[in-house]
Amino acid sequence: MLIAAAALGIAYGVRLLIQSQTEPVDARFAPPPGGHVMYLPTPQDVVERMLTLAAVSKDDLVYDLGCGDGRVLVTAARTYGCRCRGYDIDPLRVRDSLQNARRHGVEDLIQVEQQDIFTLDLRDADVIFLYLLPELNVRLIPQLKQLRPGTRIVSHLFDMHGIQPDQVLHVDSAEDTCDHVVYLWTTPLRSVQEEPEQSAGSRGATATPDAERSSPGAGDAGAQGETDTEKRPP
Ligand SMILES: C[S@@+](CC[C@H](N)C(=O)[O-])C[C@H]1O[C@@H](n2cnc3c(N)ncnc32)[C@H](O)[C@@H]1O
Repeated sequence: MLIAAAALGIAYGVRLLIQSQTEPVDARFAPPPGGHVMYLPTPQDVVERMLTLAAVSKDDLVYDLGCGDGRVLVTAARTYGCRCRGYDIDPLRVRDSLQNARRHGVEDLIQVEQQDIFTLDLRDADVIFLYLLPELNVRLIPQLKQLRPGTRIVSHLFDMHGIQPDQVLHVDSAEDTCDHVVYLWTTPLRSVQEEPEQSAGSRGATATPDAERSSPGAGDAGAQGETDTEKRPP
């Protein structure tokens, strides 16, 4: 079961990678000029679960690096009443995000700019949302290391090689019926500790056996089908 969930997650990631590198693809999914990864939205129920995982509150400033249609910003602003900033290299996505914010009446809480995320000063963020690629998460580490202590970083689908996550969850999305792995880190970032050879391959991870998995979180809005299948110790 765990292997199946991991395979689905990998398949979804491979789809993202392939779509970013091959032609022809649906124009919506082409990487934008100057961008590093194509546009592919996070399913709404996964967005909601990730914001819960990051324990977003009204007083937080939430960033989405590569904000796409602004769904993360709009969901955070509508749900928590917090301020949000989104950045996207693609002017069409900036336009979509601003339209989305207006449509939902949260434009006063949301700021969106056309910027390359690798040029940003992120130090006033409380929560950072990522849906990029593994190598792009790693490339962000110098910026993320400057964040204030206690800043939460959540990533859809992709790890940050060399950095120990606080939590790794699998969320079964009702929207696309796929397994979505999500990661949480809290600053200051901690390097993965190398373990003795016999543990290689499961570095720092404690996988919960199938039989011990929690059942889907009934009553937990936006967490449909969530299975907390794998957690790494703090
Ligand atoms: C996979 S989508 C994620 C969209 C949104 N965060 C979500 O989860 O629904 C990645 C987004 O990053 C944007 N992007 C790619 N490279 C970028 C860069 N260097 N700076 C800013 N945005 C970038 C793309 O235009 C795209 O909208």
